Amino acid sequence: MRRIHGDDLSGLNAVVIGRSNLFGKPMGLLLLAANATVTMAHSKTKDLASVCRNADILVAAVGRPQMVKADWVKPGATVIDVGINRIDAPEKGEGKTRLVGDVAFTEAEEVAGAITPVPGGVGPMTIAMLMANTVIAAYRSAGLEAPRF
Ligand SMILES: NC(=O)c1ccc[n+]([C@@H]2O[C@H](COP(=O)([O-])OP(=O)(O)OC[C@H]3O[C@@H](n4cnc5c(N)ncnc54)[C@H](OP(=O)(O)O)[C@@H]3O)[C@@H](O)[C@H]2O)c1
Repeated sequence: MRRIHGDDLSGLNAVVIGRSNLFGKPMGLLLLAANATVTMAHSKTKDLASVCRNADILVAAVGRPQMVKADWVKPGATVIDVGINRIDAPEKGEGKTRLVGDVAFTEAEEVAGAITPVPGGVGPMTIAMLMANTVIAAYRSAGLEAPRF
């Protein structure tokens, strides 16, 4: 998101689908802190597709495989797919499964300006940031100035 929009999201509409304490709410607060205009959507949101179509930045953290379709995505939008869903993959053999996100990646990719894949997007970033935070915590507990990542 920073690579595309910079640190200041002034004037941009961000929609976060999902209001969990684990992800949706903190994501909304981070976007607000970066000056985005934030809409928090959830299971009781009316006409979710049109709410999403207003998003310059669309973050999906729902837990429903491929729920966000291409026509929910504003052309050129930045799409962050947080969902991790395991679905049947008979094409890989009997009883096989594969991971997909909350966004229908192949079709949404045609419309989005940028989109994170699942797997290989938010998941590895989460692990990298966990490691970074662990190093920062270790420096602080040793009374040392922590590095920046
Ligand atoms: N990549 C990562 O590192 C990472 C980290 C955390 C989570 N995840 C993944 O992110 C997804 C969400 O995780 P979570 O812990 O936030 O899940 P959660 O606690 O189950 O929250 C899901 C949210 O989605 C909303 N929702 C459910 N169905 C909906 C629908 N049909 N339309 C609109 N909103 C709907 C719920 O609304 P209500 O509040 O109204 O029920 C809720 O706010 C999961 O797939 C999880 O595996 C990934």
